[in-house]
Amino acid sequence: MTTVTPISFEETDIDRIAEHAGRVAIFVDPEGRLDTGARRVNKLTRGAVARLTESESFGKLKPGDRSVLAYPVGMAAEAVDVICLPRTASVHEARKAGAALAKVRARDDLLVLAGSTRHVAEVAFGIAMRDYGFEDHKSKPAERAGSVTVMSNKPEEAQAAAAPLMAVAEGAFMTRDLTNAPANVLTTTEFADQLAAMEKLGLKVEVLDEKELSSLGMRTLLCVGQGSDSPSKVVVMRWEGGDKDDAPLALVGKGVVFDTGGISLKPGAGMEDMTMDMGGAGVVAGVMRALALRKAQANVVGLVGLVENMPSGNAVRPGDVITSMKGDTVEVINTDAEGRLVLCDVMWYAQDRFQPAAMIDLATLTGAIIVGLGHENAGVFSNDDTLCNAFLKAAGAEGEGAWRMPLGDAYDKLLKSRIADMKNIGGRAAGSITAAQFLQRFVKDGTPWIHLDIAGVASVKSETALAPVGATGWGVASLNRLVADMFEKD
Ligand code: BES
Ligand code: MN
Ligand code: ZN
Repeated sequence: MTTVTPISFEETDIDRIAEHAGRVAIFVDPEGRLDTGARRVNKLTRGAVARLTESESFGKLKPGDRSVLAYPVGMAAEAVDVICLPRTASVHEARKAGAALAKVRARDDLLVLAGSTRHVAEVAFGIAMRDYGFEDHKSKPAERAGSVTVMSNKPEEAQAAAAPLMAVAEGAFMTRDLTNAPANVLTTTEFADQLAAMEKLGLKVEVLDEKELSSLGMRTLLCVGQGSDSPSKVVVMRWEGGDKDDAPLALVGKGVVFDTGGISLKPGAGMEDMTMDMGGAGVVAGVMRALALRKAQANVVGLVGLVENMPSGNAVRPGDVITSMKGDTVEVINTDAEGRLVLCDVMWYAQDRFQPAAMIDLATLTGAIIVGLGHENAGVFSNDDTLCNAFLKAAGAEGEGAWRMPLGDAYDKLLKSRIADMKNIGGRAAGSITAAQFLQRFVKDGTPWIHLDIAGVASVKSETALAPVGATGWGVASLNRLVADMFEKD
C-alpha cells in the first residue's frame, strides 16, 4: 500500500532553520505580516521575504497559493516556499496550503514553520493527502521519501488534532490504491484478501464465497459474475466501537473489479477505465480503515459485493429473468447495468442481517451522472431529509462535492417489465435516477438511506484540490465526518 508520509510536530527551534538542507515553508498573511519563523527566515535572507511579500506578484496570490525564494542566501535550504495564508484561514485554505507544499516537496525534507498558524493540523492533512502517487507498477518509482517536520507554537495540540486526520488520509490512500489498481492484479480474490488483512486493525471481517451467496439466494449478484473465472464474493467488515445495543450504520459498496458490460459489451475506446468500477467498494474499505485507525466510538458495518462483469458462454444474457435475495424478479435487459444487480442483493442482506440505523450505498453506477454533474459532484439520492442533509453538510465541510438529485414514483414506473417484477434499466432519460429507483425497491420501509453515484468523482483525468490525476478517495473524509457527527458518542 502507498504509505502516508509521516509528519512530526515540534517546538519552534530558531537555530535549526538556517541549517535545514531541504525546503523550508513559511506562511505570510495577505497583509504581509510575518510570524516568528517567517521573521527568522527574513532576517537570514537579509529581507528577501519582505521584498517578496511587498512585490506585486505576491499581492495576486490567493489564500493557499505559493510563491518561492529559490536558493535563499544565508540558509542551507534549497528553496523557501512562501505560502499566502490569512490569519483567519478556513480549513479549506489551510488544506490547500498543505497541498501546494506537497506538490513541490518531491524527495526533499520539508521543514514547515507554522508558528501560530491557524489549522496547522489541516495544513498537515493537505500535505499528506496530496503527497500521493500510484507507483506499484513502475519499475523505477519516483523517490518520494523524505521527512516532513512542522514547527509549531503548540506542537502537542497540533499533533493531537492531526492524528484523526491522518487516519482519514490512510483510509483515502487505501481507497485510491484499490481504485487505481489494474483488474488483473486486483481480482475479486485479491480484493477480499486485502480486506481480510484489516482484521489486524481490530475489524471483524468475513468473506462469503459463491456457495454461501448461493444459499443466501443472492442470485442477481451472482448472475453478474457468472461469466468470469474470478469467483464472486461478498465481504462483511464490522467495526464495533459503539454501545453493544446501538444499531449500526451500514455502508454498501459496488465492487465490480472490471466492467466489460458483459454480453451488452461496452465499446473498446476507454474500456480500460472500467478498472475503477469497484470504486464504491474502495470507499467502503477506506472508511472502515479510517474508523478502525482512529478507534471511532460507533458501530459501522461495511459490505462490498465483489464481482467481475465478463462476456462468456456462461454469462448472463439480455432477456434472462433472475430472482433477487428479496424475492423480486428482475428482467435483465442490459447486462451493462450490472451495478444495481450487485447492490440490490448486498443491500437486502445488510438490512436483513443488521437492521441498520441507516444505510448508505456507494457506486460508480451510471455514465449519466457524469453527463449531469461532471466530475465536481457526486449524485446524492435519499429517502430521508435528516440523514441526507447531515451528509451534505459533512461533504461541504470536507470540500467533497455532493449534489442532491430527485426520486419519485414517475421515475420508478419506467422500470416496469412485461414479464418480471422489474427491468434492470429504464430508458435513456434520467438514467441515474432510474438506477437509484431500482435500488430503492430494495430499501425496507423505515430504513433511512442514501445512494451515492460516484461515477464522476471516484477517478478523474485532471487533478483536484487534494488528489493527483486518477483515483481521488472521494467520500472517505465525508463519511468519516458523518459518522463522527451523527453516530459517535463523545
Ligand atoms: N460502471 C458503469 C458506469 C460508469 C460509467 C462508471 C462511466 C464510471 C464511468 C455502469 O455499470 C454502466 O455501465 N452503466 C450503464 C447503464 C446503462 C446500461 C443503463 C451506463 O451508464 O451506460
Ligand atoms: Mn456496466
Ligand atoms: Zn459498472
